[in-house]
Amino acid sequence: MDESIRQLKQEGDVNFSEGREQWYSKLDADTLEWLSRDAAVFLHQSLSTPCLNVIDSCEGIYLTDIHGKRYMDFHGNSVHQVGYRNPYVTARLKEQLDILPFSPRRYTNKVAIQLAEKLVSLLPATLNRVLFAPGGTSAVGMALKLARRVTGKQKVISVQGSFHGASLDAIAVGGEEQFRKYMGQFFPETLFIPQADMYRNGPEQELQFAALLDELLTHNNDVGAFIAETIRNTDVQIPSAEYWKRIREICDRHQVLLILDEIPIAFGRTGSLFAFEDYGMVPDILCLGKGLGAGAFPIAAMVTKDAYNIAGEISLGHYTHEKSPLGAAAALAMIEYTIGQQLIKKVNEDESFFRNELMLLKNEFSLIGDIRGKGLLWGVELVKDPLTKERAVEEAEAVLYECLKNGLSFKVSQGNVLQLCPPLIISRKQMADALLIIRGALQSVKS
Ligand SMILES: Cc1ncc(COP(=O)(O)O)c(C=O)c1O
Repeated sequence: MDESIRQLKQEGDVNFSEGREQWYSKLDADTLEWLSRDAAVFLHQSLSTPCLNVIDSCEGIYLTDIHGKRYMDFHGNSVHQVGYRNPYVTARLKEQLDILPFSPRRYTNKVAIQLAEKLVSLLPATLNRVLFAPGGTSAVGMALKLARRVTGKQKVISVQGSFHGASLDAIAVGGEEQFRKYMGQFFPETLFIPQADMYRNGPEQELQFAALLDELLTHNNDVGAFIAETIRNTDVQIPSAEYWKRIREICDRHQVLLILDEIPIAFGRTGSLFAFEDYGMVPDILCLGKGLGAGAFPIAAMVTKDAYNIAGEISLGHYTHEKSPLGAAAALAMIEYTIGQQLIKKVNEDESFFRNELMLLKNEFSLIGDIRGKGLLWGVELVKDPLTKERAVEEAEAVLYECLKNGLSFKVSQGNVLQLCPPLIISRKQMADALLIIRGALQSVKS
């Protein structure tokens, strides 16, 4: 594999590799025609152009392409917790569309107020102030602005290789080269601590990195916030409770705000409504998005403390679609459905099933290195050799395309981590079918 392509394989699978070329050679003329029309009209950017396929509809855990081929979607850009076109959500959205689809910013509306009230009722009592935004990146932007206003300090510490959105303010605190390249300098420069990878380097590493945060804060008194994902979504890195306890204590001691980005993982993905609940600590600012809109309407949120309600004379968000009645209706329906259907309980039961099944696969295939997961968020790392842990990048790509061929879609992270993130409504039979497809793909790569 070309080294430049290998280097690009960080955030997701790349779309101009040999495997991708072979994939195109099997598509029909009609699909290829639509793909070329897409490539002719859209501005090209990494991870988007050329696209993989043209989809026509979606339902439950499935995407269907324009020729009727169905894919179980174990990626879904992390929006599809309650499944695509969830009937409960769709009915509420249709109702809302007929009453109030838009709310100009100088007015408020009942459904947006109800959603904000609902969110704070589900969160610890200290997180009781909300702002909505049209997307996760904007929620991160508002969080960064609020942290500057509250602390009077502009610098931020983040985690190397992290992603918090694609806008200039979000990439300034994100560590992915693909997003920062050619963008020049960011003022003030963000400081980074490394991401612990306990599989490769052992559990004590994460506490070393927490100590590094402490040290950076001791030597830089112009830092206002530390931003991180509670659990890293892309390659599924799950910190220990000790790590988060330590980070919370360090932030408190240095009077630095802890911003948790749970945009892809809240609302049940990791087996609790909010991932931080499992860590016995509370952030100062929480960013939510993606699944909040139930895969039906874009909406995101920043939730914070009453004590930080001090920026009334400036604009933190000021987005046209801020208190979107449609987004709020979708989000309220998603929350009601998640609670009403006891999805969290289901996800916790599914976690054991998934773990057992993946461990069986690991026993069967030496290609599988680490298996990491919580709830229904799983990362299966492929390695050339279990001892050296050398990343099996070509093999991961081959597994991906074999799975796609057989109707299972997911993302490959860091070049070699199969990231499996199915809708939470998935049945056991569907899970078993997906695992069978993965097993077949691993078999075909091995032989
Ligand atoms: C951790 C994290 N933060 C922020 C974002 C940005 O969200 P959005 O694409 O809705 O702006 C993403 C999107 O992938 C994400 O994964």
